[in-house]
Amino acid sequence: MTTDEAAGRAATVVVGAAVVRDGRLLAQQRAFPAEAAGLWELPGGRVEPGESDAEAVRRECVEELGVDVVVGDRVGADVPLPNGMVLRVYAATLRDAEAEPRAVEHRALRWLPAAELREIDWLPADRVLVPDLLALL
Ligand code: C5P
Repeated sequence: MTTDEAAGRAATVVVGAAVVRDGRLLAQQRAFPAEAAGLWELPGGRVEPGESDAEAVRRECVEELGVDVVVGDRVGADVPLPNGMVLRVYAATLRDAEAEPRAVEHRALRWLPAAELREIDWLPADRVLVPDLLALL
């Protein structure tokens, strides 16, 4: 048990967005840090103080992809991350179906069909959720 758990403090939440369009899932390839560069992840990041999970998902999608999303249901269970954080994923759709996400901070973006979702090199926490992500497609 971590110190935070023992003290009853909630874990820091990192939200992830499972953005689906036409039966494909949006994934982005990290450019940094060195140990994560080249690996794939869902868009997302830390929930800031005073922010709801859904607000954080929308903010991160604007920052990382340049698009607004509509946030839906939770996907899978919380996945533990190092340093007492958890990854919590929400389904999402593009608010404007014609909008095209772009890799603002990342090396590349891909819209993955189910078969490719099993094959790419995910960050470890995101990989845990692959069965839940497949169920969205
Ligand atoms: O992107 P950021 O550095 O804010 O993410 C905080 C932590 O959450 C990092 O350790 C990152 O590896 C992890 N993370 C993750 N999967 C995501 C997004 C972030 O494991 N989809």
